[in-house]
This record gives sequence, C-alpha cells and structure tokens, in this order.
Amino acid sequence: RPRIFSGMQPTADSLHLGNYLGALVNWVALQDSHEAIYSVVDLHALTVNPDPGVLLERTRRTAAQYLAAGIDPQRSILFVQSHVAEHAELAWVLSCYTGFGEASRMTQFKDKAARQGTEGANVGLFTYPVLMASDILLYDAALVPVGEDQRQHLEITRDLAQRFNARHGDTFVVPEPHIVRATAKIYDLGDPTAKMGKSTSTATGLVDLLADPAVIAKRIRSAVTDAEREIRFDPEAKPGVSNLLTIHSALSGRSIDQLVEDFTGRGYGDLKKELAEVVLDFVTPFQATVRGYLDDPAELDRVLAVGAERARAIAAPTLATVYERIGLLPRR
Ligand code: TYM
Repeated sequence: RPRIFSGMQPTADSLHLGNYLGALVNWVALQDSHEAIYSVVDLHALTVNPDPGVLLERTRRTAAQYLAAGIDPQRSILFVQSHVAEHAELAWVLSCYTGFGEASRMTQFKDKAARQGTEGANVGLFTYPVLMASDILLYDAALVPVGEDQRQHLEITRDLAQRFNARHGDTFVVPEPHIVRATAKIYDLGDPTAKMGKSTSTATGLVDLLADPAVIAKRIRSAVTDAEREIRFDPEAKPGVSNLLTIHSALSGRSIDQLVEDFTGRGYGDLKKELAEVVLDFVTPFQATVRGYLDDPAELDRVLAVGAERARAIAAPTLATVYERIGLLPRR
C-alpha cells in the first residue's frame, strides 16, 4: 500500500467545513487503499504564538475531530508532530537547502506577512513550508491529501526532495498532492469569492464543525447568494449558490446535477433550508462523538502515544540516512 501523509494545525477550537470537505473526508477514504499517517501539526501552530493552555487543548480537540470523522488509529498512524523530534531536526537540514528567495515567494507567507506587517511576522512563519516538507519527506509519502491552498507548499516539497536527491543520491520519495477538485476550495458563506478560513473569514462566513447548531443553521440561511433566482452550478457567475451546492453534494452524496434538477423552480431559501438540515444531520452526531473523546483525555493521549511510537519507527531511519549522506559524524 502506497504511503500518504497529511496534517492540520491546531490553531482553532474547531475545524471548519473547508478543513473537513477539502481534506479530512479524503483522509478517511484513503485509509483503505493506503498506509496513512495523519498528524496534528502543533509545531506549525507555534507560528501564531498561541497561549500555551489553549494550544494544548486545541491539540487534543483536533485529534478528537480526526477520530470522530473516522480516522481509525488501528489502520492509520495518528500522532502529534512534536512527539516525533525528527520533524524539527529534518527541518533544520532542509532549511539549508532552501533558497531565501524561494521561501519568500510562498504566497501564504506573503499573505500572512502582509497581514501582520513584515516586522510583526516571525521567522517560523517564513520557514513554515520547510517544516511541512520535512513532515512529508520523513515518511516517504507518495501522496499528500490537502486542499487547493496547499498546492504551492507541495511544489516546494517536491523541489526540495529532488534537489536533495540530486546532490546526495536517491533519499526521498517525491510526493504528489492529492487534491479533489470538487471540494478543493470551500468558500466563505459571507464572501463566496474568498476561501473559508479560520482566521480570514468574514464574521458570518465560517462554519465550524463544533459550533452551536443554531448558529450554523443561521449562517447557512444568511449565506450571500446573488440577485437572480435560478439555482444552477456556475462558480464564475454564481459563486455563492455554487458553493452551497458543493457543500450539499459533498455531505449528502447527491450529485450536483441531481441537486440542480431537484431544485428546479424552487428558490434560494429552499436550498439553504435543506442544506442547513444536511449540515446539522452531519454535525450533531459528530459533536457528540468529539465530546466522548474529549471526556477521556487520558485515553486520547494514550492513542496519540502509540501513534507517535509508530511514526517514529518510520521517521528515525529516514533522518539517520539523511544525516549519514550529508556527512554528519555518527554518534556512538
Ligand atoms: P491547515 O491547518 O490550514 O488546513 C488543514 C487542511 O484543510 C484544507 N483547507 C481547505 N480545503 C478546502 N477549502 C477550504 N476553504 C480549506 N481551508 C483549509 C487545507 O488545504 C489543509 O489540507 N500547512 C498545512 C498543514 C500541514 C500539512 C503538513 C499538510 C503541515 N504539514 C504536511 C499536509 C502535509 C495547513 O496549514 O493546513
């Protein structure tokens, strides 16, 4: 079974629909056909300087949401990034193979730095993609299931792998992104031309999986659409309606064509009402399952400890090979 790796940052109390439909759903599906490794990437979250207690809590909450979504820790490896020290170690090595200009061209860095001002942005934010490359390359992952916004980070990961291999001989597998087109980018409900994002969304644009169901229903009912009346899938001309159809289709399993047909002659209000039901049918049991995992943090930590052991068994030999190839004196 080919290997896959992916991760999410514990930077919010809840994952949102973009995280879920853009990534997590695919993670769950890929467990059957792949040897899957999924991480809560807490070291990445340090770039936003979280409050320590909040970070710790969010790390558990993120893991609980992976499990509730259907990540099976028997079949897949589920662990916390900081529990496997090799991630930070390989990141240092790879940072020495990354051009300053190359890192400067990362659009996510440029966006974040623009928001915080270059003075306010920390160096961790700048080297973030190098740590991400290390996450992936440590495990010889062939495939990385992510949303569209991570494509550029996958490209620099591939470049680093190829550069290192060219210099030191075949060491890393060059990974491919796995981006499912239909759900690669879920849009903000309040501004359907912008990506739904934890920190960037409009006040009413975000659907958190762990939010109060009444709030979720209200956000869907007040989603921005357009001045027409017709329900059809046209992301260019009708981004709001198309986004609602995308979310509906992904959660209900009904095709967009089928939905468009079913809603012929009906209004946006009907679509929103039904979508709210579809989303609540999913989040209500999801929230209960998450609560169950969070009620037993000792068991959750135990699952994560087992995952870290298994991850380390793969990561340590990779790092050892890297150290040997680059000429670090073996410790004995
Ligand atoms: P993060 O934590 O921002 O997001 C987690 C995943 O959710 C996807 N995503 C979306 N997909 C569709 N529509 C949206 N609106 C949307 N918003 C977020 C992201 O593409 C991502 O797949 N750098 C990564 C974390 C990371 C990682 C890795 C991923 C660190 N190391 C190694 C893969 C492999 C990030 O910030 O994701």
